Amino acid sequence: MASLRSWLLSALTVANVALAAPQPKLAPRATTTASAWLVSESAISLERILSNIGATGQYALSADSGIIIASPSTDNPDYYYTWTRDSALVIKTLVELLRNGETSLQSTIIDYINAQAFLQTVSNPSGSLSDGTGLGEPHFNVDETAFTGAWGRPQRDGPALRATALIDFGNWLLSNGYESYAVENIWPIVRNDLSYVAEYWNQTGYDLWEEVDGSSFFTIAVQHRALVEGNTFATAVGSSCSYCESQAPQILCFLQSFWTGSYILANFANNGRTGIDANSVLGSIHTFDPNAACDDTTFQPCSSRALANHKVYTDAFRSIYTINDGIASNAAVNTGRYPEDTYYNGNPWFLATLAAAEQLYDALYTWNKIGSITVDSTSLAFFQQLYSSAAVGTYASSSAGYSAIVDAVQTYADGFVTLVETHAMTNGSLSEQYDRNLGTELSARDLTWSYAAALTANMRRNAVVPQPWGETAASSVPPVCSSTSVVGSYSTVTLSSWPSTFTAGTASSSTTSTGTGTGTGTSTTTTGTGCAAATTVTVTTTVTTTSACTTPTAVAVTFDAIVTTTYGENVFLSGSIAALGSWDTSDAIALSAADYTSTDNLWFATIDLPAGTTFEYKYLIVESSGTIVWETGDNRSYTVPSACGVSTATEDDTWQ
Ligand SMILES: *[C@@H]1O[C@H](CO)[C@@H](O)[C@H](O)[C@H]1NC(C)=O
Ligand SMILES: *[C@@H]1O[C@H](CO)[C@@H](O)[C@H](O)[C@H]1NC(C)=O
Ligand SMILES: *[C@@H]1O[C@H](CO)[C@@H](O)[C@H](O)[C@H]1NC(C)=O
Repeated sequence: MASLRSWLLSALTVANVALAAPQPKLAPRATTTASAWLVSESAISLERILSNIGATGQYALSADSGIIIASPSTDNPDYYYTWTRDSALVIKTLVELLRNGETSLQSTIIDYINAQAFLQTVSNPSGSLSDGTGLGEPHFNVDETAFTGAWGRPQRDGPALRATALIDFGNWLLSNGYESYAVENIWPIVRNDLSYVAEYWNQTGYDLWEEVDGSSFFTIAVQHRALVEGNTFATAVGSSCSYCESQAPQILCFLQSFWTGSYILANFANNGRTGIDANSVLGSIHTFDPNAACDDTTFQPCSSRALANHKVYTDAFRSIYTINDGIASNAAVNTGRYPEDTYYNGNPWFLATLAAAEQLYDALYTWNKIGSITVDSTSLAFFQQLYSSAAVGTYASSSAGYSAIVDAVQTYADGFVTLVETHAMTNGSLSEQYDRNLGTELSARDLTWSYAAALTANMRRNAVVPQPWGETAASSVPPVCSSTSVVGSYSTVTLSSWPSTFTAGTASSSTTSTGTGTGTGTSTTTTGTGCAAATTVTVTTTVTTTSACTTPTAVAVTFDAIVTTTYGENVFLSGSIAALGSWDTSDAIALSAADYTSTDNLWFATIDLPAGTTFEYKYLIVESSGTIVWETGDNRSYTVPSACGVSTATEDDTWQ
């Protein structure tokens, strides 16, 4: 295949072409230690997450198949249980990785779904499935029996988050030709969870930190999202969700009342706190919709409300932690759950500091997408801390002010990541907390959620965003809020067997056969043997074995890039791995214009790449003068599939 160097030698007689490594001016986002660390931490994070999933994860060997432990720590604190919330957030992250090429995660996701179908049926101190109350139970034993000790229950965010994770996977199934599994296996589980949300959203429960009984911003925000996307998903699987439609606007109505005028109140509860809490930042990032612009009604990451809240939240930790001493008032700080926290003496949490970064990466994505930044009186203080001449108004992307703000926000966001890097262990391990005075790791080791937070922060930093959930059609707030509820319908889910492997885009909707290139699967049957549940469920799952099918070492990846060029301009691809020239533009890969037409400005190249490799890349145009023009924006990121029988892949890009 032609590289830029050989093409230049053969086709160009320009003597003085400057072919240096990418210049900072052309590649606007500098490689910082934050980005390099996040990339390597992402690989570690995925490995550690898998280590925390039964029954094969090395730290979860005694957990049932598909059960995600919160942490391997069994004592002081004992987190060797499975939480519905934490597990759903982790699987939501794994589904995103699957969408971005980590096809090997399919079996992990299926194992999780099988386990959840059973856990929904396990009666527990919160109740049972018959009236939905059992779905609000926060956590279970790793053998899928009920935890019967005292606990802050119910917690109503779990069913909503599980619905969100399953809907994302269900939509992936639908768009890859596996409709029957979305209809038969995903929708019935999701329907139970959506029923729960519609029936109980207007009742109090414990917050995500399991301490406060009241109404929690995070819970209400994720419940709204779940019903909105649940309604669309119901239609897509040939069903309907009238209760989603009737309740979602009322949840959104209630959500507005958490806005205090200067920050988001974490809880309506009589707990004597300020209500400044990572709860709100997490609520914003977990309801981020890349199509939603900077909408205030759903507290989108770049909304004025969420940015004002970000400043109030981060400022609350500047003076209370010794490890923040000496940090400039406009630089990133280590953040925790809430300033009044006393758990383990009250410390910064990895997932909180990473969330502070992630919200800003989300905002950068959206500003870039909409091409402007609007500053209003609500968000002015946020912007002025980073860019002192910020003023109320709109900065178009062509303006100097826009560039200055974007650069400052990028630096600020990377600062949070750098703090996490500083306090992470050298082997990449992330616990739950780190000491407010010493910075050393504290509380539960290898917290699964901490790793999910690192993975999503890395994706957002690279402008890899989640699927839209329909915010733009669900942001109209009813004029009057009412206390409402709908009685849900709940049923035990019996899953039909899954295909032994999924091959994106190749199955037809009616088939139950395996995708291409698969070997013989083996079948295992897990029969629920939980505590004396009112119902029993048989979950049959077919798992992939790789004995009859090999994972190729190289995959032929076709890069299809829509780039509008004029005569004499040529398009190349350069990237961080040797096969793409290791960012040396003289070794960049030439794309072909053989299929380029005036209506389809397609450039393409097929390149053999090592399976499973993750790398960054960008397109560049070499003009006839030899001048190089790089794409703007973040480096793109791609992971070469590494799956049984998958030897080709296609990546569709558009010049940015
Ligand atoms: C892309 O990666 C190169 C090489 O690591 C780096 O120099 C450049 O700053 C990066 N660009 C962006 C936008 O991150
Ligand atoms: C129920 O909804 C009403 C109307 O939004 C609200 O005023 C009330 O605080 C809510 N109560 C709970 C417990 O969610
Ligand atoms: C990382 O290093 C720490 C400190 O040496 C050690 O306790 C921990 O077990 C290591 N983590 C893993 C997952 O190996």
